[in-house]
Amino acid sequence: MQQAKYDIECETLLPEHEFYKESFVLLEGVIIEIISRLDFIRKYKITQNHKDPIEHCKARIESAESMKEKLRRRNMPVTVESTIMEIYDAADICVLCTFLEDIYWLVNMLKKQQDFQVIEEKDYIRNPKPNGYRSYHMILQVPLHLGDRIQKVYCALQIRTMAMDCWASLEHQLKYKKIIPDQETITGELKRCADDIASTDLNFQTIWDMIKDIQ
Ligand code: GTP
Ligand code: MG
Repeated sequence: MQQAKYDIECETLLPEHEFYKESFVLLEGVIIEIISRLDFIRKYKITQNHKDPIEHCKARIESAESMKEKLRRRNMPVTVESTIMEIYDAADICVLCTFLEDIYWLVNMLKKQQDFQVIEEKDYIRNPKPNGYRSYHMILQVPLHLGDRIQKVYCALQIRTMAMDCWASLEHQLKYKKIIPDQETITGELKRCADDIASTDLNFQTIWDMIKDIQ
């Protein structure tokens, strides 16, 4: 059986519901709406004799605790209303693609969805962060049809290759280590790995281009 393409990690814990209240369902809704669209686009591309551009998607709703901390840090009211109206990444989807070309193809497709509004986009692949981090970031605003009205909800997306995701997971672990001996060496090594991975992604793309030409 094929491995599930989508992990939707929507906490059902009490603190999340106590904070997000009825808006929790809006955040779940925006994730489901985008993932269904991605799934349809992906399946349609396959019927056109193309390769599947998506390996996997991971979605989550930010925990109540870190959302409250974010609101306080930004001097905003610690309420669900300010979260829904002002915070762009309470709902978050990470899309893993096979090749670099799949990322740009997907970004283009998302921009063509007439009901999705692109609020922000950052290409950290062409312009990596100083630590070596690479991914394509987008903030989308998506209309949810609630029956009696339409509510627009934000969602953050990180679109990256599996290799970029592997690096991001490892680098993310560092943030939880309070005391890191020889931090400079570790960050330097991580940066070197990020650059190696970027060059490997380019090699994979070249190999794939050669295979495509043969086909
Ligand atoms: P800012 O303008 O700095 O807010 O950039 P952004 O909004 O494009 O990115 P943000 O820092 O908000 O990151 C969004 C998500 O991308 C984070 O939750 C992480 O999952 C991922 N991310 C961004 N930067 C890094 C990084 O340096 N390392 C890792 N591991 N993940 C990152
Ligand atoms: Mg941000």
